[in-house]
Amino acid sequence: MADYRTLNEQAKGMLESEPWYVAAFSNISSLIMNMVPDLNWAGFYLMRKGSLVVGPFQGKPACIHIAPGKGVCGTAALRNETVVVPDVHQFPGHIACDGASESEIVIPIRQGSLVRAVLDIDSPVKNRFSPEDRQGLEELVRTIEERIGWD
Ligand code: SME
Repeated sequence: MADYRTLNEQAKGMLESEPWYVAAFSNISSLIMNMVPDLNWAGFYLMRKGSLVVGPFQGKPACIHIAPGKGVCGTAALRNETVVVPDVHQFPGHIACDGASESEIVIPIRQGSLVRAVLDIDSPVKNRFSPEDRQGLEELVRTIEERIGWD
């Protein structure tokens, strides 16, 4: 089980040193990859001109554009809610960027009620993301939403 409390504290420190989203998302994706076991991809897609575009991440090169409603990321962005996928092979329209991915969680990052980005995390293990993981990661996203600088 990941230590989400420590992860959150460290993310808070990073955001307080530099809230600009490029710096913050770069270090936070590294933090997630290093502190949460059994992941193959962790990073951010940013809403830009009505579509999601890949942002700072750790892992293999990924799809660049994802339209709202497409894949797990586009579904989470369009619904404006967290999507947990225990088995990506059972998710219609899942976009396979890294063939190693077996399960996935995507959490929207909002400014007010507007979705500005999503946090996307993939695992090579089926059913990797428990309700405790979801809670820890949603707390991390709240920490981000309260401190991030978009300009
Ligand atoms: N699997 C995602 C695409 C992004 S990669 O996992 C990094 C999706 O279906 O939206």
